[in-house]
Amino acid sequence: SQLEKGGYPHFMLKEIYEQPKTIMDCIRGRINVEGNNVVLSGVIDNKGKFINASRIIIVACGTSWHAGLIGEHLIEEFCRIPVEVEYASEFRYRDPVITDTDIVIAISQSGETADTLAAVELAKSKGAFIYGICNAVGSSIARATDSGSYIHVGPEIGVASTKAFTGQVTVLSMLALTIAREKGTITKEKFESMVKHLQELPEKLKKVLEKTDDIKELSKIFTYAHNFIYLGRGYNYPAALEGALKLKEISYIHAEGYPAAEMKHGPIALIDNEMPVVAIATTDRIYEKTISNIQEIKARKGKVIAIVTEGDTLVCNIADYCIEVPETVEEYAPIVTSVPLQLLAYFIAVNKCRDVDQPRNLAKSVTVE
Ligand code: G6P
Repeated sequence: SQLEKGGYPHFMLKEIYEQPKTIMDCIRGRINVEGNNVVLSGVIDNKGKFINASRIIIVACGTSWHAGLIGEHLIEEFCRIPVEVEYASEFRYRDPVITDTDIVIAISQSGETADTLAAVELAKSKGAFIYGICNAVGSSIARATDSGSYIHVGPEIGVASTKAFTGQVTVLSMLALTIAREKGTITKEKFESMVKHLQELPEKLKKVLEKTDDIKELSKIFTYAHNFIYLGRGYNYPAALEGALKLKEISYIHAEGYPAAEMKHGPIALIDNEMPVVAIATTDRIYEKTISNIQEIKARKGKVIAIVTEGDTLVCNIADYCIEVPETVEEYAPIVTSVPLQLLAYFIAVNKCRDVDQPRNLAKSVTVE
């Protein structure tokens, strides 16, 4: 009903707008009063398991799988534990190698996805320690796991996941930081900087939401596009995949996410003056490389919409349109850059009169195979 939507035309927009608060709810109680330490109790309670883990396997579907890819970067960078990210539906049917020194992390907003639950049961039968990252409290996956952390973002109604995604990435960040501190694989400076930047995210997301009107205007230019390409590198590559998925799900426009440097191995053949390319190009250690990738698109007359760090000039000089987001450490970039992409998908779908909260052929949780 209108009341439940809190004055917003759709649950999806309401949930996008809730993100400054949901990120706050997600980190609340997990940061100490001094604001310089993060404690994820599920990790601390199983400290030995995490410190001695030979490998972490992340299983998930859809948007949660994209969050898992960011988790892989975070855990490998900070904890130096090898990570694999698997589609739950593939993992469960391919007789995977799992041992009792493996940790399997299952990520699921609903906690009811049949494939993810089956992957959990399989890993459990092989003796792995299972950790859940769910939103729905008391859900089947939450109950089937040995331990876990809730994302605490509140009920998500829109079929296209938004606030659950940023919550999942936030929990994965806190998980990686907690393990890294216990293992001693992160410097004190980096750890404290990560904890500080974590607490600044809610304010930064408020700033991103101030761009809504600009994104709404921009959406009008691209409403009738038949295809879209989303590019990102490093931590922003999964954000590109997720941005493309949002557009597909609710506008029914074909969209592909690619790692920007992989374009030259095939997909660049698709570029012409009718191809919109959303390039995530916030400042990070591969920023210069991303700029060259954008130049390759421009040289083939693609229309570039760039997501950049506030104050950027280099990318904005070559891109057709620029959306600025506040600066953060590169590890949190996908939390900040995914929000304008949620809004872009939302407005394009609204312009096309799509059923944003209940897109055709999709269900909020897929409890059958
Ligand atoms: C469905 C939803 C997606 C979601 C996926 C995984 O396909 O439509 O939005 O990402 O399931 O859901 P889960 O609840 O396991 O995160």
